[in-house]
Amino acid sequence: MTAYEPTITWNPDWELGIEEIDDQHRRLVRMIAALQVQVRKQATALTVDSRLIHELLEYALTHFKDEEGIFRGKGWEGEAAHMLEHQNFMVKARGEMIRFQTGSPDTREALLGWLVGWLKNHIAFADREHGAYLHGKGLV
Ligand SMILES: [Fe+2]
Ligand SMILES: [Fe+2]
Repeated sequence: MTAYEPTITWNPDWELGIEEIDDQHRRLVRMIAALQVQVRKQATALTVDSRLIHELLEYALTHFKDEEGIFRGKGWEGEAAHMLEHQNFMVKARGEMIRFQTGSPDTREALLGWLVGWLKNHIAFADREHGAYLHGKGLV
């Protein structure tokens, strides 16, 4: 049995000081925490209800577009690489949907661990870079 990590909670250190983005990040964290709870409740089920993960991926896409709209065209050198990170995440996450729905409980936990880890790291480190750049230039 996989040892459960505590459910993800918002860390105020992740705030970028850009209200729209911080609100969206908080919502993403709430959504992924709800998904963690769901996966654990359905740990013995053969298939899991995929509504929450669908909603999470839909919302992640909306968030990426909004975030890119804020940093694009502002002269930030990390622009292209950051957009590629968003894109790669979506491709991988969408590709894993079937395994998420029909895989073993351990497979689901592993995928969830990847999702949580990616999101945490992306918000805490990658997003911090464009936040710092935009603040430094007085653009937000
Ligand atoms: Fe973000
Ligand atoms: Fe991002």
